[in-house]
This record gives sequence, C-alpha cells and structure tokens, in this order.
Amino acid sequence: MKRGRLLSLSSVTAALCLACTPVTTEGPEPGEGDTLDLERMIRQHRYAPYQPAEIFHDGAVMRRPPEGTVPNDRVTGDPGLTRGVTGAAGGAYVTRVPVPVTIELLRYGQGRYEIFCAACHGIAGDGESEVARNMTQRRPPSLVDPRVQAFPPGRVYQVIVEGYGLMRSYEANIPLRERWAIVAYVKALGRSRAAALDALPPPLRERARKELP
Ligand code: HEC
Repeated sequence: MKRGRLLSLSSVTAALCLACTPVTTEGPEPGEGDTLDLERMIRQHRYAPYQPAEIFHDGAVMRRPPEGTVPNDRVTGDPGLTRGVTGAAGGAYVTRVPVPVTIELLRYGQGRYEIFCAACHGIAGDGESEVARNMTQRRPPSLVDPRVQAFPPGRVYQVIVEGYGLMRSYEANIPLRERWAIVAYVKALGRSRAAALDALPPPLRERARKELP
C-alpha cells in the first residue's frame, strides 16, 4: 500500500517535470560553478514574459486574470470616501469627514494615530518626536499648526493614502475606516490646541477653569 502510494507520487512528479520543460536558460546550470552565486535565483530555467508556453491551453505563459478581477488602483465606490476627492479622476478635496464622527471614532482614531503617526508627528501632533529631531532633511511638520489644520479632511486623507514628499504611503497598512478615524482625530487635535474657553460646553468650561493654569 505504502509502496504503491510512493510509486504513484513519483510518476506524478515525473509528469509535472515533463510539463515544465524550461524555455529560457541564462547563465550556468543551477549548482554549477560558484557555490556562493547570489544571482542564481535570476539565472535559472524560467519563462520570460510574453513567451509561448506549451503547458497552458492557450499557449501563452502570461495568464489572463480571472473574470471580474479588479485592478489594484481602480477607484471603486464613492471617491470621496475611498480617495478623499470628489471625482474618480481627481477633483476637489472633500471638506467633511464622510463617516459619522462619534466619540468612539475619535477614540479609535487616537489609538491608530498613536500607532502610525505619533512616532514622527509627535503624540500631541506638534511635530515634536525623536524621529523629527533626528531627521536631517525635511522634518515631519506639526499637524496642529494653522497651515496643516487648514487642510480639508480630504487632503489629510490623501496624504495617508498616497504619502507626501518624504513621507511614505500608508495605504497598505491602514484600511479606509481607520484612515478617516485618524483624519478626524488630527482635526480634533488641532481644535484641542486652539479652543476658546467660551467654545466649550459649560461643564467642560468649568473644569478647564479649575484645572488649567
Ligand atoms: C516615518 C515618519 C512619518 C510617519 C510615521 C508619518 N509621517 Fe506624515 N510626514 C512625515 C514627513 C517627513 C513629512 C514632510 C514630508 C515632506 O515635506 O517631504 C510629513 C508630512 C505630513 C503631512 C503634511 C503634508 C503637507 O502637505 O504638508 C501630513 C498631513 C501628514 N504627514 C500626516 C500624517 C499622518 C496622518 C500620519 C499617520 C497615518 C503620518 N503623517 C505618519 C513623516 C511621517
């Protein structure tokens, strides 16, 4: 029984190897020459793009994406929500956070901000951080100063998705809802720095009078 299984396994392996008769060979055979050949992954039997290949029914090595495949960069859904701008091909930045801004969203945004942004922009958003102090080129700016606070929410969202100058994109790391939570929190950080005492609701105003110097 065991022997039979082994036999059939080896005949399957043999059939597979026949199917993958290499077309492109560049450089020495694998295992030949220098044992420390770090390019060996590149120089091995392989198909080049657009080459004919007998192993597929249509004779082409490059495969068609399955029916219904969506390109990675296609704007799907409401562009205001997914890209922070009013049109699929660009347009004006959205001027409101397009998800309901609740205290839960802000708390969530705070957590995400502190994980993803604070290392550079500072825990209070003021651009004071170890990374900022050590950046010799352009420093991560304060996110609570009037210049950045004047950005419409869609602009801050776009910086998270696309990156900006020296700052890389966080699109792959931060999903849509988390991005908007961070945007809302960045706006809240700005407000928290510049709120007039009279703008606070009465109980908070009282507390602020007592507790703030
Ligand atoms: C590794 C450091 C780093 C992290 C982490 C980081 N940033 Fe930045 N950010 C920068 C730097 C540096 C710049 C300035 C880039 C430049 O001017 O070339 C910048 C610029 C910005 C700007 C201003 C863009 C403008 O138009 O002036 C915004 C807004 C911003 N970041 C938001 C965020 C948010 C939100 C996060 C978290 C999701 C974040 N950043 C995470 C380094 C960082």
